[in-house]
Amino acid sequence: MSQARLKIEAARAALEYVESGMVLGMGTGSTVNAFIDELISSGRSLAGAVSSSEATTGKLREAGIEVLDLNHTGGLELYIDGADEVDAHRRLIKGGGGALTREKVIAEASRRFVCIVDESKCVNVLGDFPLPVEVVPLARALVARKLVGLGGRPELRNDFVTDNGNLILDVRKLDLVDPVAVEGEINQIPGVVTNGLFARRPADLVLVAGERGVERRGRL
Ligand code: A5P
Repeated sequence: MSQARLKIEAARAALEYVESGMVLGMGTGSTVNAFIDELISSGRSLAGAVSSSEATTGKLREAGIEVLDLNHTGGLELYIDGADEVDAHRRLIKGGGGALTREKVIAEASRRFVCIVDESKCVNVLGDFPLPVEVVPLARALVARKLVGLGGRPELRNDFVTDNGNLILDVRKLDLVDPVAVEGEINQIPGVVTNGLFARRPADLVLVAGERGVERRGRL
């Protein structure tokens, strides 16, 4: 099965947790786009969605789903998002699409977080995928030096500005055996908006689509 097909399978499996009338938190990326398509085909009708990026906002509006402001909705019942890497403890690396900050805010605001991935995203230890770190432009060089001090090799993402007007450093070679500690440590550097480790608030349920069906890691 192609990776695109597996993403659709993961997206479809998440529909089980969605009821008409809900306000959903919506992540960013091709798997989330597949989820929005599946949601529409299922006939379920949301009260609205809180979006994690301008790209997802465009997709939601095209689908006729009202986009709501998190400041007005308050806490959400359910957040659906993809990931770039997932470990056995449902900790994630996210931000390959650059939407990590809004994604982390919505995950934090949500009672339940369902992560949808194809099996290529599963790893034993996080860190093969370069860790995205969103930084305010003024702090780019300072944060890069601090990340080198932590053992990382940061690289500025070329020609990329986040939806928040900031830059992304993609960091290789960090030791992420203790992702909870590293997530906190990087966030302490002045100028860091957030980093793409979702370890302090991992997913509650990961739906992993593979050749033999959809594996469920965790529960709601
Ligand atoms: C967006 O910033 C990321 O966190 C995405 O969740 C991640 O890149 C997954 O993307 P795909 O669903 O396109 O693989």
